[in-house]
Amino acid sequence: MARTKKSPTSEKTRVKKKEGKLKVLIVAAEVAPYASVGGVAFVMKHLSKALTDLGYDVRVFMPKFGSIDETINKISMEYEGLEVPTGDEMGTKLICNVKKVSNENGFTTYFLENQEYYEKRANVYGYSDDPTRWALLARGTLEFIRTGIFVPDVIHCNDWHTGLLPNYVKTVYRKDPILGKIPMVFTIHNMMFQGMIDHRHMSELDYDDGRSHIPSFFADRLNKLNFLKRGILYSDALNTVSKTYAKEILTPEFGEGLDKLLMELKGRLFGIINGIDYDELNPATDTLVEKNYDIGSLELRDENKNALQKEYDLPIKPNVPLFGFVGRLDIQKGVDLLVRTLRQVLAEYNIQFVQVGGGDGGLAEMLNYLKNDFPDKVGIHPYPNFALPRMLFSGCDLFVYPSRFEPCGVVQLEAMRYGAIPVVRHVGGLADTVENFDSSTGKGTGFVFKYFNEFSLFGQMIRAMEVYNNTSLWRQLQENAMRQDFSWNFSASEYVKLYERAAHFRKKEIPTKK
Ligand code: GLC
Repeated sequence: MARTKKSPTSEKTRVKKKEGKLKVLIVAAEVAPYASVGGVAFVMKHLSKALTDLGYDVRVFMPKFGSIDETINKISMEYEGLEVPTGDEMGTKLICNVKKVSNENGFTTYFLENQEYYEKRANVYGYSDDPTRWALLARGTLEFIRTGIFVPDVIHCNDWHTGLLPNYVKTVYRKDPILGKIPMVFTIHNMMFQGMIDHRHMSELDYDDGRSHIPSFFADRLNKLNFLKRGILYSDALNTVSKTYAKEILTPEFGEGLDKLLMELKGRLFGIINGIDYDELNPATDTLVEKNYDIGSLELRDENKNALQKEYDLPIKPNVPLFGFVGRLDIQKGVDLLVRTLRQVLAEYNIQFVQVGGGDGGLAEMLNYLKNDFPDKVGIHPYPNFALPRMLFSGCDLFVYPSRFEPCGVVQLEAMRYGAIPVVRHVGGLADTVENFDSSTGKGTGFVFKYFNEFSLFGQMIRAMEVYNNTSLWRQLQENAMRQDFSWNFSASEYVKLYERAAHFRKKEIPTKK
């Protein structure tokens, strides 16, 4: 359930780095600010920062994509000529470099450099040889550790792109004196993406039981591996990004075909909610918002609402409830349900709706039609944008997140931080972070519905508007939302416990010599 702020995060105490404290290597395909496609990139950055603040020695490992500028980012050479075995019969090796940026946010980021597979590619994802690129990342990380430059006490892998890393450790490198002993944690940010294969429409012949030998980087069969399943199978401890999602994925409805396997591994599976950066996202200091405010000056939000209505070319109406949606246009997020329900609400009630975020072309088209049908009530920007989300968080009254599934979700946390009220479906991280408002007790932080249909969402949107019209109740609700504490402090210490658990499970697995 929601957590209430105990002390301002800006006052967080820095634990002094002690000698002999845990050394962590976090491996991911995307890490902000160097490459960010989705929420994962920010989770990687902020978790690493929070662990560093707690005094741990955290380093991050990712590919050096063509879009990462060496001069701007002050990247330097760490290891030249790293030889990474491809696993083919001839013993072919790919030659890579490892570069690094030190001390940004207090931790070091390592980049695996390879001309062919990363340097020549501007994008993180979307190439037909992605499995080779991720196999190279997995094995490149391990070969780097073998150089002895940084030998972590735990390796923390994220999503399917890093799934082969634990698999290599427990097979090819199982007798390696260094790697063979390092515990591994695997975080699932999304069950939907498991590899190159579409696990939902896959022929039986292509089924990967996860136990077969990893083919060479260049073999066609690499494309058929279920990387996510392998990450799950071979890691020592697993987690996903909310407690509810960790339970949901044990069922066929959310398990994406891996529910039975996860059920078997239940004792090693945990849920840790993501946080947001409370220093970066602060309505009192955010330079991207028109007028700064805090919990004591919520009336100043009106100026931001005004600026937002201007920005989207909508009539300036301070008292009309302004709904918003920030995020990827993805079927996961229930954008289709949102648009269908909005049609009814817009036709019957005096509301406005604004949106920012790109993605699926079909969903963007639905939004276009909505705008055409309600030009004075709807404003859309169906593309990614850096500054607009902050304008929305600080100016909208309500946000709607009717996700089909949601491992964690970050935008509802950002909305609450800015005093905007979320209307969410009771799934995954949304269920764990938003508490349904009870007008009789004045408790709760948003509006929550259970079923994925128009009636359920419609009902909560109407309730939200009723409360909006009651000034004192609304203020109470906004204050409740703003008092929540979803900073990284708590979750980072949960990760430390998870790393310790992984070490415990690993020890139990390695036979001791008598
Ligand atoms: C994925 C999930 C989202 C989660 C994010 C970071 O994008 O869909 O719910 O917040 O990963 O963990």
